[in-house]
Parts: sequence; C-alpha cells; structure tokens
Amino acid sequence: MPPCPFHALVDAFAGSRPATPNAEPPADELAFLDEAHLASQAATRRAEIGRALAAGRPAPLTSAELTWAGKIAWRNHARCIGRLHWRSLQVRDHRELADPADLAASLREHLALAQGDGTVRSYLTVFAPEDPSAGAAPRIWNAQLCGYAGYRRADGSVLGDPANEAFTRLAINLGWRPPAEPSAFDLLPWVISGRDGKPALFPLPAGFVREVPLRHPQFPWFENLGLRWYAVPVVSDMLLHAAGTRFPAAPFNGWYMGTEIGARNLADPHRYNLLPLIAERMGLDRRRSRDLWLDRALIELNAAVLHSYEADGVKLTDHHTASEDFMRFLGRERDAGREVSARWDWIVPPISAAATRVFHTPMREFVTTPDFRRQPPPPGRDG
Ligand code: ARG
Repeated sequence: MPPCPFHALVDAFAGSRPATPNAEPPADELAFLDEAHLASQAATRRAEIGRALAAGRPAPLTSAELTWAGKIAWRNHARCIGRLHWRSLQVRDHRELADPADLAASLREHLALAQGDGTVRSYLTVFAPEDPSAGAAPRIWNAQLCGYAGYRRADGSVLGDPANEAFTRLAINLGWRPPAEPSAFDLLPWVISGRDGKPALFPLPAGFVREVPLRHPQFPWFENLGLRWYAVPVVSDMLLHAAGTRFPAAPFNGWYMGTEIGARNLADPHRYNLLPLIAERMGLDRRRSRDLWLDRALIELNAAVLHSYEADGVKLTDHHTASEDFMRFLGRERDAGREVSARWDWIVPPISAAATRVFHTPMREFVTTPDFRRQPPPPGRDG
C-alpha cells in the first residue's frame, strides 16, 4: 500500500480497469469517430475500421480522422494542464514513414514548424503504427527532440542534465562526438530506429534548436551563470494510442509553462540542482531552512525564466495563467457533457500550489482513448 492516501486511490483506480490497450472493447476505441463524422457516416466508419482491427491490421484512419484522434488524445491526457488549447493541435500524417533517415527529415520540419519565430505552435507528427505484418514500428529513442547531455565525471558528479546521462552514454557508444569542451548545455543528437529496430544517429545542425539564455529582471549577475533552456518541449518517447492501434513514434509539442524549467529541470536536486548556487549569489544564509532561502532562490529562478522567454519573444505560459486556463477547460468540458480525467499531482504547479485554483479542485484519473501513453524503452535503450 503506498503511504499517501491520494496515490493509494489513484493506484486502486488504475488497477480497476484493464491497462492493456487490446483488452479494451473496440466500441470505446472507436467512439471518438462520433466527433469526426455525422452519425450515419460514423457507424459506417466504425464498421470498416472494426473489420481491419479484427483482422490484426492497424486502423485505416483517414488523415482527418487521425487529426481528430490526435486532438482528442491531447484533450484526454490526464497529466496536461494546457488542454484548453487542444483544438489548435496541428497533426502531420506521416504514417507512410518508417525509415530512420525519413523520420529525421520529418522531425527537422516538425521542430522548425513548432519553433516558428518564437510563437510556438502545437504539432503532432504520426509515424508508422505497430503492424505485425510489417516488422517493428519505428521508434525515437530520445525522450524529447531537444535535450542536454549529462556527462558523469570521475568524482561521480554530472556535468549537464543528469536525466540524460544514460542516453548520453548510448549516443557516445553509437559514435556521437561531444564538443571538444563539454558544457552543461550540449544539445544531444537524435537516435532513431526503423523496421529492423537498429538505432541510427542523427546529429543536429548547429544553431537549429532555438534556445533562450537566462537572465534576471533585477539581478545583473544572473546571466553570468550561463544558464539556458530550449524553446520547445517536443515529447518523443510516448505512444499515441488511437482506434485500437499503437503509434510508438508520435512526437508532439506544446509550449512551456515556466515552472517546468524553473521549478523542476533547473531546480530539482536530481536535475541541475541550482538552488544552492542561486541562493549563495543572492547572499542568503543557507544554514536555516526556516529562513526560506530555498523558496526565495526558487522564485527568482522562475522570475528569470519568465522574463527571459518574454524578452526573447518565445511563447511560454506562467503557472497562474495555465491554472486559470485549465479551470476554463474544465468548464467547457462540463458544458460539453464530458468528464475530465486529470491527475491532481501533475496538474498542480510545483510552486505556489495553493495560490492557484487547480489546487482546490478535486480531480479523478481514469483510462481514456485516444490518449498518449508511456511505453517501455526500445530494446537496447537502458534508461
Ligand atoms: N516537463 C517537460 C520538460 O520540462 C516537458 C513536458 C511537456 N511540456 C509541455 N509544456 N508541453 O521538458
């Protein structure tokens, strides 16, 4: 039994529905088609697609249906606070692609489109689905299309992002050459496998990934810390589950909420762990936790993230706006007669939690489809 009653509830609930996609009734799987079509047509399409699934083939969705599946998968995703904007998702139908070099070319387009001129637009690119008759489905081995290397030093500490340490080693084993002088913010290459499951390496053209150097609106010393983060999070290791079909390579992006960077990536003790350094530069006494040096450092780091992205014209939301947007989303879904699956511990921002309305809102998670799901790493990718 987990120690926390909330997690106990979530776990108990998760266990009450089958977790394996194929165990779900096809009726649920294809219900989303009712939103894509008029009633008479939806019935026909359900029958056609149901026949393909029964024969063990991937769902023969039209591009328009796939677009609906992608948007509804976003709308359904229990961990996402940004779902008010689900209708704006642009879906790229690249189901014909399974070759790593073709995926890499498509991913370069995806990132360029998503980055725009800083506007940041939400895209989903869908590559070849699982299909027993075709061999393995393609996989993107990176957790995200942008990410910084993590190098373990002899003393056990890590230069860069510890979250990517195993992936960095993998890339090096595949032949990636880190810069001559490794830094804490070296962009990682892409690792992609095709039908044969073998990983291939695709270094990124220099300057291709948009990044934001971090500075603080009041502290001039802050920019000398040399901190930066990339503009767009493109999640590339999750599976799109739609219409009884699994799409293991279906990278998608939204735009950042500041706290993802300022309260997690750069602040977590097991990530960049920068709060002690920032507190020191702020001249705070780090001996007494009740002086709130951690909290003060955390707020200023978040202020720097919000300020820098805004100054550079790169779209990023703050947690107060995101919380209000999510409350509007809940209202709209209620008006549409749909219950919202949501995980409170993911929706509530990691700072100033109780100052946001989502904190005071009960939530319940349940299995939905279409959805984005976690999947085991490709065979050969250890972490
Ligand atoms: N939390 C992840 C990160 O910090 C990104 C997850 C997706 N975030 C988003 N805003 N769409 O990189």
